[in-house]
Amino acid sequence: MKIVVLAGGISTERDVSLVTGSMIYKALKKTGEHQLMLLDVYLGYEGDIGGIFDEDKDWSEGFGRISEINPDISAVKALRKDNPNCIVGPNVIEICKQADIVFLALHGQNGEDGKIQAMFDLLDIKYTGTDYLSSALAMDKAISKELFNKYDIPTAKGIVVNGLAEAQKAAAEWEDFPCIVKVNAGGSSVGVYKADSRRGLEEALKAALALENRVIIEQYIDGREFSVGVIDGKALPIIEIAPKVGFYDYKNKYQAGSTVETCPAELGEDIAKKMQSCAEAVFKVLRLQTYARMDFRMDREGSFYCLEANTLPGMTPTSLLPQEAAVIGMSFEELCRKIIEISMEKYK
Ligand SMILES: Nc1ncnc2c1ncn2[C@@H]1O[C@H](COP(=O)(O)OP(=O)(O)O)[C@@H](O)[C@H]1O
Ligand SMILES: [Mg+2]
Repeated sequence: MKIVVLAGGISTERDVSLVTGSMIYKALKKTGEHQLMLLDVYLGYEGDIGGIFDEDKDWSEGFGRISEINPDISAVKALRKDNPNCIVGPNVIEICKQADIVFLALHGQNGEDGKIQAMFDLLDIKYTGTDYLSSALAMDKAISKELFNKYDIPTAKGIVVNGLAEAQKAAAEWEDFPCIVKVNAGGSSVGVYKADSRRGLEEALKAALALENRVIIEQYIDGREFSVGVIDGKALPIIEIAPKVGFYDYKNKYQAGSTVETCPAELGEDIAKKMQSCAEAVFKVLRLQTYARMDFRMDREGSFYCLEANTLPGMTPTSLLPQEAAVIGMSFEELCRKIIEISMEKYK
């Protein structure tokens, strides 16, 4: 098959996506089964695209790394010679149209939120992962929370505020400290703050509102953190995530050695089964297809709460979902192959 691995973009998770993309590209290339191209959705490709899949070239050369802080998007935008506000770069559509399927390695805004998926549906371009509607539902933490509440999925108590006036009112009334403030449609913990006091809450809200107009204030779940991948509706083994210092922020997510990850997680059989069934229920409630990864917190009493669903979770060999797959004997290459296979089934 001809496959484009599509990565990059201009979300706060650009760098993570570039690494996810090159890892998927390399893994699929190693199988020798496909003609591959790795493409940055934002920067596109300026050269001649005739016979581009026949070129014997390593497209992953110099394709990005993750630094300690989230990327400087204005510097990336300065690289675009045409319209820098157009998310889709030169020749991206033309190249994707030549492919049998596009492997989505995007994360965050304009990649994980359903917009690219909707555009590809209209253009008759096949892609991996879930469709546009479920992507949008999962990306929107407020809507996810409403659905979780409706279908009895345990989730942290929280409220949604829009803009500064609502935030100020909410900050004056909120009683439960510490609490978490997070942007509604973020990712990779960018725009997530812990507030220990009302003063801290006001500051956190200000910082979050600078990134997005819609923000969530949520009860802080003190305890352990877990994540559960689901492939084709079925949960993988649970992984526990324990940052050595602080919470699971951007740095702890992507700097090697900063977080202890244990898979399968050390949990009683009963509670593990319950969390896995809960992840499968979230998959259904958000109408997800193919694969996703749900994040959980568990309090000191052993009650767990679903934080969110990630529809295009990190996909480097050391990312959480690939580690979970490895525990059931599925290598990273096999996982990539499986994602393509179940994504192709959507189109039958
Ligand atoms: N209610 C909460 N209680 C405790 N920690 C939280 C809570 N919400 C978020 N966090 C912390 O912030 C991290 C990121 O939050 P999450 O909701 O998963 O958003 P995203 O991963 O999309 O940035 C979590 O992995 C967790 O460590
Ligand atoms: Mg998360």
